[in-house]
Amino acid sequence: MKYEKIQAPKGVSEYVPPESAAFEWVRENLITPAKLAGYQLMELPVFEDTALFSRGVGESTDVVSKEMYTFEDRGGRSITLRPEGTAGVMRAVIENGLDRGQLPVRAWYSGAFFRAERPQAGRYRQFYQVGVEAIGLDDPAIDAEVISIADQGFKNLGLKNYRLEITSLGDAESRAAHRVDLQKYISKLSLDEATAARAQINPLRLFDDKRDEIKKSMKNAPLLMDYLNEKSKSHFAQVQSYLDQLGISYVINPRMVRGLDYYTGTTFEFIHEDLGAQSGIGGGGRYDGLMEILGGQSLSGIGFGLGVDRALLAARAEGVLKDDQFSSDLFIIPLGEQAKAIALSLAAQIRQNGVRTEIALGDRALKGAMKAADKSGSRYVIVLGESEIAAGNVEIKRMSDGSSTSVKIAQLQSVTFTD
Ligand code: HAM
Repeated sequence: MKYEKIQAPKGVSEYVPPESAAFEWVRENLITPAKLAGYQLMELPVFEDTALFSRGVGESTDVVSKEMYTFEDRGGRSITLRPEGTAGVMRAVIENGLDRGQLPVRAWYSGAFFRAERPQAGRYRQFYQVGVEAIGLDDPAIDAEVISIADQGFKNLGLKNYRLEITSLGDAESRAAHRVDLQKYISKLSLDEATAARAQINPLRLFDDKRDEIKKSMKNAPLLMDYLNEKSKSHFAQVQSYLDQLGISYVINPRMVRGLDYYTGTTFEFIHEDLGAQSGIGGGGRYDGLMEILGGQSLSGIGFGLGVDRALLAARAEGVLKDDQFSSDLFIIPLGEQAKAIALSLAAQIRQNGVRTEIALGDRALKGAMKAADKSGSRYVIVLGESEIAAGNVEIKRMSDGSSTSVKIAQLQSVTFTD
């Protein structure tokens, strides 16, 4: 009997060697600035009570209305695979009483998220984000901190062809004033039932509609930016002044609408210029009413989510990944049983210095093992045979130019194996 192969579900992103090394490097570099700024890990469940997202993220959003992976568990509870990270962090902060401790709560997370979207380049049904949330501070300085951490992540990768767009969605009072006029404007448009219903829950959604006729009819719609009250205006001005001081350039996009309903005040997106349709490599903003909606205190918050898959695509598009970046530093080829045993302990010692050391196991002949060394991309190769062991010396061969240096085996631990 011949079994059929089983394939991964449609539209998921997965990373296997050699690509996985670049993925890991991107993810680590994106989140390092948050760790350096005192943000602490939150490792949360990938599935939650469905109500967390329908209430937290909002019924008017595509994410909740069309894209959630929702199922009933064996106890008859409605469960949803997390489509984003902010609602879960809020839930965990409330549940663990972190909101009653030192504020702000500074959290970072990293993991898989799930949205049943139509898959295409850069848009997956399972994808990866790193993110931060800073909870419990109204100060515009924390907005600038959060934005600068995201920006530093992209800079760490060496990305250049991206821009930061920012806007302010104002506080509740500003939004209420705008909503009246926007709804008046929208009531004069002829909309299909579903669009009208969406606009009823959140009229801002129509700014995000991709259809040409809606785009056209929204052209003269009143903009929230023109309705900001003094408090919202001065908060946003202060954020801009901090960004200027940090040397972070940005463009103000008053028509920006994020795909999630909880946003208030400062809102931002990072757009990469080489990625085509799925160009959003990260985004975030304030969500000052979210904690209360989820049954907690009325604390403000701001955060971001960065798309690791898209940041990797951006890094590839800009050519900032070097091929030899992820290969081993040293490749040891043992010839014979005794050499193999010595290679195992030598490698263990050398690795303690952080030197990435691979051993050619499998008792291959020298020629085959050299080929493997070449393929591995290792910078240096050592052949360890009986004569080397007898002499107590090995040749360290530098693969880039074929040159070699003789070193005492006993002193290998002090060699750095860098170029
Ligand atoms: P978001 O804009 O929905 O925000 O997602 C953040 C980033 O995740 C996007 O900019 C994009 O790079 C990536 N992303 C989203 N969907 C996909 C997908 N289907 N395939 C590949 N990448 C994707 C949030 O999720 C908010 N929770 C961010 C946040 C945190 N706001 C405040 N705090």
